[in-house]
Amino acid sequence: MNLQITPVTPNLKYVKGKLQFELVDILSIVRKLGTPVYIYSKSQIVENYKNYDEAFSGREHMICFAMKSNSNFEILKIIHRLGGGVDVTSGGEIYRAINAGIKPQKIVYAGVGKTEQEIEFAISKNIFMFNVESKDEVDVIEAKSKSKNKNTKIAVRINPEVRTKTHSYISTGEEGTKFGIPIQDAIEFFKYLKTKKFVTPVGLHFHIGSQITEIEPFLIATKKVVSLIPYINSLGIKISYLNIGGGLGIRYFNETPPSPKKLISTIIKHIPQQIKIICEPGRYIVGNSGILVSKVLYHKKVRTKNFLIIDASMTDLIRPAFYNAYHNIIPVKLPDKIQPMVKYDIVGPVCETSDFLGKQRMLPEIKNGEYVVIECTGAYGFSMSSNYNSRVRCAEVMVDKGRFYTIRDRETYHDLILKEKLTKDNV
Ligand SMILES: Cc1ncc(COP(=O)(O)O)c(C=O)c1O
Repeated sequence: MNLQITPVTPNLKYVKGKLQFELVDILSIVRKLGTPVYIYSKSQIVENYKNYDEAFSGREHMICFAMKSNSNFEILKIIHRLGGGVDVTSGGEIYRAINAGIKPQKIVYAGVGKTEQEIEFAISKNIFMFNVESKDEVDVIEAKSKSKNKNTKIAVRINPEVRTKTHSYISTGEEGTKFGIPIQDAIEFFKYLKTKKFVTPVGLHFHIGSQITEIEPFLIATKKVVSLIPYINSLGIKISYLNIGGGLGIRYFNETPPSPKKLISTIIKHIPQQIKIICEPGRYIVGNSGILVSKVLYHKKVRTKNFLIIDASMTDLIRPAFYNAYHNIIPVKLPDKIQPMVKYDIVGPVCETSDFLGKQRMLPEIKNGEYVVIECTGAYGFSMSSNYNSRVRCAEVMVDKGRFYTIRDRETYHDLILKEKLTKDNV
């Protein structure tokens, strides 16, 4: 029998048995633009951003959207219009952000391996602040700032060494990870910074991981990092900013993450009033704002298993293959009549056994040529996509007030070879 099929993604609804996303018929989009295709809901991005923004209830803060989660120009423009900045992890992201209209003074730059060229580029663009992660990196920032006769603001990324119940690949604040300065070495690190003339430490930063669905680890991290402030001040260094990173989880299936309001109101009490707060949400802003639509190519039965082979793959959405992540998968069109459900492994065309989108999913029978939606794929979906197997990256679409428009064209075969050169054989 048909089980209840309920979308998890807000703004995604069955109307007369067919899925609409922010009032747009999904079939009308795929008929025009083909599949696989990412679709984002503008109103959901705006709502999520405002939820975060309002959670600070008047306290001075800056939202720097973690653009690694989704760096499409149109999404960056929405963030910009809402007054947000960005958290970047590469020179490429700085370039992209500035071209999308983000002001350099709203850019914070984290990452353990910023190259000399990237550091020079960031300084030349006058970004707001670096989140530094090692002494070697500080030496390069100092040298590059000196050569430009500029003073560069930095925050020190602290690893507060807290445990988080998330996938180990996205846990960044536990003991022994490559991120940040271990908390016990923080004071010594600030003493080292005092020897620098062109680098000014103004803040502390932490980011303990992603898809965290409890408040506890954030609270522990905040308390631990805030406890450093008096010691740093006593060295004659004024801490004006605390960057609390991102990491708030979303509901992919049945998770119950706290709201930004609950999270922020709990931790904010432990941050001294004079400290300005920066935060870097990524997944929370865009995760449930996006879906991936794919066409069923073939059915294949192997012993007792039913494979549903679709035209999206790990090259479009790597999270299931990479982190064993769960995304709800539902049909675009409900069957006309009640019928038995089928257990499917939903897989893509790529030559890897890890190329699956969902395993053991109960769905009504879906025919070849029909469509499925892979839900809550707005974060770390397109931005982690690749051209593996020489597959073209898919189109991206925005839905807004009942209309849709393309925000990135599907790549072409020609795009795949654009940068390559045929050299003469060395005979
Ligand atoms: C430094 C930093 N800040 C913010 C984020 C965003 O995390 P999330 O998307 O979980 O909010 C990340 C993601 O890994 C990160 O590395």
